[in-house]
Amino acid sequence: LTVGVVLGGVAPEHEVSIISALQAAAALDRSKYEPVPLYIAKDGMWYTGDHLLDVEAYRDIDELRETAIPLALFPGPHGTLECVEVRDGGALSHLTRPPRRFSIDVVLPGLHGGAGENGGVQGLCETFNVPYTGSGIFGSAIGMDKVLSKHLCQEVGIPVVDFVAFYEHEWAHREEDGLDRCEKEVGYPAIVKPARGGSSIGIMRAEDREQLDAAIEDAFRYDDKVVVERAVQELREINCSLLGDGTHVEPSVLEEPVASDDDEVLTFQDKYMREDDGGVKGGDKVDGPGPEGMASLDRIIPADLSDERTQEIQDLAIRIFRLFECAGVARIDFMIDEATDELFFNEINTIPGSFSFYLWDPSGVPFDELMDRMIQIARK
Ligand code: DAL
Ligand code: MG
Repeated sequence: LTVGVVLGGVAPEHEVSIISALQAAAALDRSKYEPVPLYIAKDGMWYTGDHLLDVEAYRDIDELRETAIPLALFPGPHGTLECVEVRDGGALSHLTRPPRRFSIDVVLPGLHGGAGENGGVQGLCETFNVPYTGSGIFGSAIGMDKVLSKHLCQEVGIPVVDFVAFYEHEWAHREEDGLDRCEKEVGYPAIVKPARGGSSIGIMRAEDREQLDAAIEDAFRYDDKVVVERAVQELREINCSLLGDGTHVEPSVLEEPVASDDDEVLTFQDKYMREDDGGVKGGDKVDGPGPEGMASLDRIIPADLSDERTQEIQDLAIRIFRLFECAGVARIDFMIDEATDELFFNEINTIPGSFSFYLWDPSGVPFDELMDRMIQIARK
């Protein structure tokens, strides 16, 4: 089977996506699957080329544009994605030979954020009747939006921290409707996030009105919808990955990501950019996807929690996976307030960084099997 591994994308998580997707492509069992890179440049153009399976190809975008082959996509007759190489700007009339054409049997979106994770690419596949891995349009769209996700969880009684959300046009009346409301309903410290962001991009902590104002202003650079959340004082973050579909879902072991300093917000830097090997605060240091991947983040796997707490979180994670009608792999992030022992839903990632392989491996599902299972689910 040819697996179209979609990577890049127009969202700010472009670079992170390249890492996750190339890890997935490398993990595919080559006796069954042939990975074909389908790279979406930041301007939305689609490219292919064998060399795009190597991370080196992405170091210089100008060079990539010269060597990669632009693609036109259209639906095939038997639920395939048909790709035509459109060298020479797609002008077929003066081509000396017919353009190469190939079929993709299943699409593997390896995108984070924006149209790759919010149902956009999923909708393209649905419209073309092509099988694709991961969650469908509904879960992808709601899951990408931190505000709608919270509303959905609240609807069925799953606890979330106090929050306020607004659109940029509402921010015109920032004093009364914005800052006052945040202070009344959320208080300080507060965490400000672009509503549909990812990888901690644009997330800031605010201790007072001045910082709050600046943080919200900054978050609007990434999204015209912003959410302000109450900062949990004695925070522990606990994540659980899930694998399955509507009929059968399994939870992974739990992870506890640990920030590199005393900041309570894990930064983009913490998650992806660290090349040093900062010590983990207790627990085992876990090897992950390499210096540029998710695993440069320190994480404790399995998280040091009681069996009862672990079970409770896994059960809740399964419930949320079903609530969002997820499929394939998703990762659900929780917060524990150590002061009160409360557990909160934080967010869901329908295309989690590195496909959460570092959680599945210690759960008894090696990366190649994880990919195999995702593809099987996609083709059901
Ligand atoms: N959005 C990143 C990749 C994650 O949360 O896993
Ligand atoms: Mg996320």
